Amino acid sequence: MRLAVIPGDGIGREVVLAVLPVLDLLNDACGLDVEHDIFGWGADEWLATGVGLPDGAVDSLAAKYQAILLGALGDPRIPDMAHGRSILLGLRRGLDLYVNYRPLDLPTGRIDLFRENTQGLYAGVGGTIARRGSVSVAIDECVYIRETVEKFVRFGLRRLADTGRTKVTLVHKSNAVPNTGRLWQEVFETEMAGFPQLAAGQEYVDSFCYHLVRDPSSYEGVLAPNLFGDIISDIGAALMGGLGLAASANICPETGCALFEPVHGSAPDIAGKGIANPSAAAMSLAMALDHMGYGKQAVHLRDSVREVAATEFATPDLGGCGTTEGFMAEVIERLGARFIDDKAGRAGEPATTS
Ligand code: NAD
Ligand code: IPM
Ligand code: MN
Repeated sequence: MRLAVIPGDGIGREVVLAVLPVLDLLNDACGLDVEHDIFGWGADEWLATGVGLPDGAVDSLAAKYQAILLGALGDPRIPDMAHGRSILLGLRRGLDLYVNYRPLDLPTGRIDLFRENTQGLYAGVGGTIARRGSVSVAIDECVYIRETVEKFVRFGLRRLADTGRTKVTLVHKSNAVPNTGRLWQEVFETEMAGFPQLAAGQEYVDSFCYHLVRDPSSYEGVLAPNLFGDIISDIGAALMGGLGLAASANICPETGCALFEPVHGSAPDIAGKGIANPSAAAMSLAMALDHMGYGKQAVHLRDSVREVAATEFATPDLGGCGTTEGFMAEVIERLGARFIDDKAGRAGEPATTS
């Protein structure tokens, strides 16, 4: 198995480099054979060479790697994020990763959020007219192609049904944005006919955000167009306990190409301090392990991360005073112990008296 690693900028780099030793442990302790290559694409390279995503990168990633792990992009020296759009949006579109799965692990239960990931307001259609050096007309078109919405909605519904979820909510804004709104509603209503086991709901995105914060327990599955899904995922992360905890998978179901990344950005406000929470990056690596067929290892990694988040090794965003390195060292310690327990046939749970 080959994993492509794009650490990126700021804390993206910090958290991804901190979780990589997990792979060494898994290769050594459980006989996994996951090789990784690191790609230095990001702000420094952009500023030095003007290149974001190099020519040929999309094809070569698709051909040679089973999964991609990305940190985050974003640098105050590039305020328009041109390099980030080239690399991140370039990969999402170039690899046709049209499903962005962003699970919200909440105390009230998990919400499976599916965000369309390549079109809508992110389609890259638009332009500006400048007058005397400033923008006088600005256009960003919201573009949706029916086939994309259909395959996205079908994938989300199938996944929800297959994982035993019982209800799904479509988020839209058809009262104000009627054209793409109606397309999404039509597709959702048509596709729902194939999923009688799911109860369907539809909500305007503003009201959905209100209800999500007030009572997250009323949702199980959510399907959202691109920009709405982006915003909902940060609200969801806040409900989870912070952006440092939220992981995501960008998927092309047809090709099996997949890119895993924390939901958070490069966090310039804490970059360089060594205190970024690596949980989201570790959980993203766990999703990559699942994708590569290492489900048991992924479960052990997730459990170890959750445990450490509740100890004195927790980082400041979780109310602790731990560091990125210290947190991951403790995760690796506990993960290693889980495999030793496995080998010794110990269940890891206290035995019940019988
Ligand atoms: P951000 O997600 O980087 O940070 C938002 C807040 O959350 C900050 O206060 C930050 O300190 C905190 N935070 C985020 N991740 C954390 C972690 N792991 N541990 C502890 N605290 C954490 O959002 P922003 O500040 O709006 O964006 C910064 C840059 O990142 C921008 O350039 C933006 O475009 C970019 N960005 C990139 C991605 C990506 O590459 N996937 C995602 C979001 C934002
Ligand atoms: C995310 C980010 C990106 C997005 C940005 C950095 C382009 O916010 O992955 O959530 O909007 O998709
Ligand atoms: Mn976002």
